[in-house]
Amino acid sequence: MTEAAPILFFDSGVGGLSVVAPTRALLPTAPIVYAADSAGFPYGTRTEAEIAARVPALLGRLVERYRPRLVVIACNTASTIALPVVRAALDVAVVGTVPAIKPAAAMSITRVIGVLGTEATVRQPYVDDLAARFAADCTVLRHGSAALVELAEAKLAGEAPDPAGVRRALDGLFGQPGGDRIDVIVNACTHFPLLEADMAAVAPPGMRFVDGGPGIARRIACLTAGQEWPAVPGGDTLVFTRLGERERRLAAALHSAHVEAL
Ligand code: DGL
Repeated sequence: MTEAAPILFFDSGVGGLSVVAPTRALLPTAPIVYAADSAGFPYGTRTEAEIAARVPALLGRLVERYRPRLVVIACNTASTIALPVVRAALDVAVVGTVPAIKPAAAMSITRVIGVLGTEATVRQPYVDDLAARFAADCTVLRHGSAALVELAEAKLAGEAPDPAGVRRALDGLFGQPGGDRIDVIVNACTHFPLLEADMAAVAPPGMRFVDGGPGIARRIACLTAGQEWPAVPGGDTLVFTRLGERERRLAAALHSAHVEAL
């Protein structure tokens, strides 16, 4: 393992940056390749078959090109659908991102938890399983929002989110029977922590939010413990599966040092 071997983060768009941030805090000089499947975005409205075919194929090409020490699927949709297939296909350790239902259950006082993800994620049996294993004594309400994903992308490109749009998405949870008792929201899409302040501003006071980012960062640090890292941070690489005008604007807003097309 050379010290230059990167950690490869993968998402449909910018959401995985909410996993990169806590990882950066623990591993400040880790070389990072961030890959966004802009040609396949958004994942949340795709079918299981599309995700299960697309994600392992793309990751195979990315691993071949960048030779990462570790792959992080920084996307709940891709992880809850394709994690076992990706692990079977790749010859490198793979960390996935799944809804943080366990910590939410530990935090909730009312025992009513809201899971906010993409439409594809909230219908996965993986989520039923997490709820049954870790939140059996809670009511777990779910809502899938494609609008929040778009708002997060726009925010990172420099556009302030419309509070009414954020509120409408949250109403998908609060409007369900028992929704008025939710005291913890699981941000079960990596795009959503990027909107946490915007959500907190329109949610009932005291609402708490939890996501998988900090736990994944600890897992990455643990899996790479003892490995060599560069002495100083180098420029990260941003890779898009389609590199058009929109992606170039985004890369500029993110001050990316290297931008490439897959
Ligand atoms: N960021 C992704 C997730 O965690 C998917 C967003 C999308 O492309 O719909 O689920």
